[in-house]
This record gives sequence, structure tokens and C-alpha cells, in this order.
Amino acid sequence: MTGPSPSAAAAQAPTAGDVSEKDRLLAQYAEVASLAGGLAHEIRNPLSTIRMNLELLGEDVEELDDPRRQRMLRKIERIQLECGHLEEVLTAFLQFSRAGELETEIADLGGVVKEFIAFYEPEARRLGVELSPHLDADLPPVRLDRALIRQVLMNLALNAQQAMPDGGMLELQAYRCEEAVCLDIIDSGCGIDPSAQQRMFQAFFSTKPGGSGLGLPTARKIIEAHGGTIHCESEPRRGSRFTIRLPAADPE
Ligand SMILES: Nc1ncnc2c1ncn2[C@@H]1O[C@H](COP(=O)(O)OP(=O)(O)OP(=O)(O)O)[C@@H](O)[C@H]1O
Ligand SMILES: [Mg+2]
Repeated sequence: MTGPSPSAAAAQAPTAGDVSEKDRLLAQYAEVASLAGGLAHEIRNPLSTIRMNLELLGEDVEELDDPRRQRMLRKIERIQLECGHLEEVLTAFLQFSRAGELETEIADLGGVVKEFIAFYEPEARRLGVELSPHLDADLPPVRLDRALIRQVLMNLALNAQQAMPDGGMLELQAYRCEEAVCLDIIDSGCGIDPSAQQRMFQAFFSTKPGGSGLGLPTARKIIEAHGGTIHCESEPRRGSRFTIRLPAADPE
């Protein structure tokens, strides 16, 4: 097989014009992202005021002696529910928009996973999810943002738990892979069909009622900001395996 002709290669090489176009697009993206983050903030604060006042209104309506009381209360509950959902979406959105801002330290990924398990185990037990950790000793240290990696683990564990409504097994396996540390998170849940697998890392893709569809995009953004990768293998009705790969810290 022959390579591209010199003229074809020259045609593909980036020109000075392409580079400045890329910079312009990056600056535009950063501006839109910061506007969207600011907007989410602006909406979240008045929303919590609305929710608080609805609660007070509900208490007032409770005391009314009016045949329409129950109907009014149902409407208030409905608005409260929608406000709660909007708040969740905004929180998920803000987490997504901040996912690239890291405060890193050198740490043992196995230790971070152990801390997460200690925090999550009571909830897992309550839901009939058995946690099965296999964390190799002597993993090379990695440079990570502890809070954000915990958030990734939480997002993946929540997805796994929601895929196993009748309980099941959640394995967490950490091992060395060349100059990196890998973590497999394996559930025995409903699995993901191929069309959903293609879209599940896209922002706002969700198959769940009330899902923000930002859990996996946030996880991916955090892992990529660490210079790592995340990918998934899944078989419908058998379960899913998410593999995170984080580069080992530079010994220097
Ligand atoms: N472990 C899993 N098992 C089965 N399906 C999964 C799993 N993880 C993700 N998915 C699929 O990928 C979709 C996107 O996941 P993601 O975490 O981004 O959003 P979500 O879970 O729908 O919403 P949110 O995270 O806000 O609650 C899910 O709706 C689900 O269809
Ligand atoms: Mg999720």
C-alpha cells in the first residue's frame, strides 16, 4: 500500500489560516460555555427562592377551610416537583461545566476507591447491590482531583444501581496497565443496547424519566481532563463494564 502523494499530504496539513480558525472556534466555545454556566447560576438561585415560597404557600393552603384545598395542594406539589427537577438538572449542568477545573494531588487510586466504597456501601446494601472490590496492591500513584474522581465513581455507581432495580453485583477492579492504572466498574444490570451505547456519552442523552443525561458526559470530561480515557463494553440483559484509564504520575 502506498501513502498519500506529497501534494495530498500538503493539502491535509494545517495552514496558518486553519490554526487561527481553530483558535477562534475554541474562544467561541469557551465564551458560550461560560455564558451557559453563568446562566445556570442565575436561574438556580431564584429557583430555590421559588421552591421555598411554594413550601410556605403549601403550609398556608393546608390551613384553609376551602373545598378546593386538596386541588390547590396537588398543584403546589406538582410545581414543587418540577422545581426540584430543574434544580437537579442545573446542578448536573454546573458540575458538567466545571468538570475540567482540576485541583490535583498525587494519590493511590485504590485508596480513593476504598474511600468511595466505605461511603457508598450502606446505600448499596439497602438496594441489594453487592459490592465486590479487587484492588491490586502497589498500584503506581496517579495525579488526580480526589473530589472529581469520587464524582465519577458516584455517577457510574448510580447508573449501575439504576440498571439493577432488583439488586445485583457491582465489581470494582483496579490494576496496573503499562504506564497507567485501570479501574473496571462492572455491573450485572440490564446492559445497554448498541444504539444507546453510541449516544450515551453525548450531553443530555438519557433513557430514564427525569434523567439529565449529564452523568456520563461529566465523567468523561473529568477523566479526559486527567489525561485519561473511559470506555464501555456492554451486553444487553447481561451487564456493563466501564473501564477508566488514568496515566501513572510522572516520578519527577
Ligand atoms: N451501567 C449502565 N447500565 C445500563 N445503562 C446505562 C448504564 N450507564 C449508562 N447507561 C445508559 O446511558 C444513559 C446516559 O447515562 P447518564 O449517566 O449520562 O445519564 P442518566 O443516568 O440518564 O441521567 P443522570 O445521570 O442525570 O441521572 C442512561 O440513560 C442509560 O440509558
Ligand atoms: Mg446517570
